[in-house]
Amino acid sequence: MFSSVPGPIGIFDSGYGGLTIFDKIRAAMPGYDYIYLGDNARSPYGTRSFEVVYRFTKQAVETLFNEGCQLVILACNTASALRTIQQRDLPQWDPARRVLGVIRPTVELMDKISKSKHVGILGTTGTITSDSYSLEIKKMFPHMTVTGEACPMWVPLVENNEFDSPGADYFVRKHLEHILAADPEIDTLVLGCTHYPLLIEKIKAFLPEGITLFSQGEYVAASLTDYLRRHPEMDIRLTKQGNCRFLTTESAAKFSDAASVFLNHPVEVEQIRLVE
Ligand code: DGL
Repeated sequence: MFSSVPGPIGIFDSGYGGLTIFDKIRAAMPGYDYIYLGDNARSPYGTRSFEVVYRFTKQAVETLFNEGCQLVILACNTASALRTIQQRDLPQWDPARRVLGVIRPTVELMDKISKSKHVGILGTTGTITSDSYSLEIKKMFPHMTVTGEACPMWVPLVENNEFDSPGADYFVRKHLEHILAADPEIDTLVLGCTHYPLLIEKIKAFLPEGITLFSQGEYVAASLTDYLRRHPEMDIRLTKQGNCRFLTTESAAKFSDAASVFLNHPVEVEQIRLVE
């Protein structure tokens, strides 16, 4: 049984990429306490099977609940693509806690942003093959056309600090050309992966004029602020002293180095193990 004592907001990602979402959430809500957990030892998730991503994500959410989090944000798109945690596990664990993903808040804005009603989703192989974005968009906006493009090399380019290299030019151009050829009416492209904001300048450089690039961090932060305004019963379960803890399943020193690329400053990190 988990404790019902108020606690921090948990933010989970397979690795460093969720720091792009964490950064925007903390900027919007600096007074809250946070625990960020990166499963760096087992990242990337984007090329793994659903069964494995589900098992790893479940362990991570349980760990954050054990650390006292009452609300967990799955900052990872690949993990957010799995609804089983929200629908099956959460009611059994503790129906008063919440696990929120990043796909829903992104999808909600699509109809407003796209004029042509043709949108493209750039994501990991896991996110694209799950069809989650397409299914959510179609459910909310049946008149919209959605095309997905898996960009499996983009995460390794960012993880290896190659996001500004000529190698990145090749892979960015390749996937943009491919998705725009598949549907030339696309006027909005969603960066449906935590790592892609670091490639944004490259993506912009190869993007034809008139296409809106949608980076989800700010919208996820705005959606969370709105969620807590509408759910005071959850807001009172969150502690607010402006503290942040960073947990990783890999080396703390490695995480701290990488965090300085994503957050522009180093952070203190604790290494933990996720258990079955
Ligand atoms: N965090 C993942 C996502 O947003 C990208 C990294 C990975 O493949 O684990 O889909």
